[in-house]
Amino acid sequence: MLFHRGGKNVNPCWTRLANEMGATGRFDMERLTPRFLAKTYHEGDALVRGENMNRHGVPADPYAYLACLKSRDAGWCEIALAYVREQRQGNGVGRLLMAELLSRKSGVRYFTISQDPAYQEIARRHGFCPVTRLVMSNVEDWAERVGLNIPNGRQRLPETALRDGLPRLNGGRWLFIR
Ligand SMILES: CC(C)(COP(=O)(O)OP(=O)(O)OC[C@H]1O[C@@H](n2cnc3c(N)ncnc32)[C@H](O)[C@@H]1OP(=O)(O)O)[C@@H](O)C(=O)NCCC(=O)NCCS
Repeated sequence: MLFHRGGKNVNPCWTRLANEMGATGRFDMERLTPRFLAKTYHEGDALVRGENMNRHGVPADPYAYLACLKSRDAGWCEIALAYVREQRQGNGVGRLLMAELLSRKSGVRYFTISQDPAYQEIARRHGFCPVTRLVMSNVEDWAERVGLNIPNGRQRLPETALRDGLPRLNGGRWLFIR
């Protein structure tokens, strides 16, 4: 178990969800804390699906999550933390969460990063395009501006975004923009 129950004021369902998501090994563990999942949801920046909703709209047993996170640049948001429990996958839950989340805001642009083919498919169907230098010549400057690459700090920009040719999604981690 990665996170213990009983963090102050955090509903234990977020601990369960963070543990379940963490066990997939697909997520950036810095953001994957019960508190972050809860805060993002209660601020209206994430969607959750699950069984037995309480009066605050929090399910006792969450099985899916998707967040829209502010970036350093107010004009860009990151769609992130996409998760559907394995037993529920392939039924359109991820697709519906993406459609609903994107319909909430207007006037912003979105980016997302993933190496998961099913998630990449969902992103493409919702108008996201994979990025290389051919698509966005200033991608490194842009990455710094939105906070993906922090000078002398974390570098989250995928290596594929620095390629020169047309994007070819044949595996690997990709940046998508919309
Ligand atoms: C990615 C994830 C959120 C998708 O959720 P989901 O509810 O299963 O997705 P949906 O059923 O809505 O849609 C999946 C789509 O991908 C397609 N797909 C599935 N596997 C695929 C593959 N290997 N290559 C291409 N497309 C694929 C499906 O056909 C479906 O498209 P369709 O609606 O046209 O049939 C889910 O698989 C998941 O949580 N994975 C583990 C965590 C993860 O990797 N998250 C992404 C981290 S960025």
